Amino acid sequence: MKEEQQAKQHAGYYAADLVQDGMTVGLGTGSTVFFAMERLSERISEGLSIRGIPTSAQASLRARDYGIPLTTLDDTPVIDIAIDGADQVDPALQLIKGRGAAHVRERVVAEAARKLVIVVDGGKLTDVLSAPVPVEVIPFAVSIARARIENLGGSCVLREGVKKDGPVVTDNGNWILDCGFGAIQKPAELEARINNLAGVLGCGLFSEFRSKTIVVVGEPGGVRLLSG
Ligand code: A5P
Repeated sequence: MKEEQQAKQHAGYYAADLVQDGMTVGLGTGSTVFFAMERLSERISEGLSIRGIPTSAQASLRARDYGIPLTTLDDTPVIDIAIDGADQVDPALQLIKGRGAAHVRERVVAEAARKLVIVVDGGKLTDVLSAPVPVEVIPFAVSIARARIENLGGSCVLREGVKKDGPVVTDNGNWILDCGFGAIQKPAELEARINNLAGVLGCGLFSEFRSKTIVVVGEPGGVRLLSG
């Protein structure tokens, strides 16, 4: 296994081992969380009893493949622990998420969770958040949302499909604007401004969950923990 994959596996497995019997577990999206699901699946076959709440169609499909029983937020509104990935993490545990276009549901699950465990490899750590910020918008509002975000200093690109022509359509039926701001000096302020725009469902900046967040940084030889 390549070093980066090994690092992701260490992070995912560590997070899965934090899960205790009877817990409801938020299942994030992306390749690092897949490793957590792989380990949860092993633990389930050894007798662990849990229920998962997936943050995306991708997470739901993978959880089913791994035999992880699923529930919904309607039936189980409090989540004991959410395990999720991230695209960038700064020293204050502020995040950029949404590479997989799942950040709106990921935010709902993170909000409902008592504990948020973010699993990443070391390549995701940065001093200052600077990756493009994914913004989910309703198609009806895409032009004005884009103009408003450009007024905030962003430079927006409508995310296009890879094996599909035209815009990526999210699990919620919306579109994604990837908005570059360069180095983001005040992530919480920018997050609030973007999330407040008409027609915006949510952006990939996550700064409000720091006090309940642990970041598990996978390394080739183990993990390093960062907490709020
Ligand atoms: C999904 O929309 C993102 O928020 C993911 O959590 C993120 O892209 C992590 O993916 P990897 O673990 O594959 O890097």
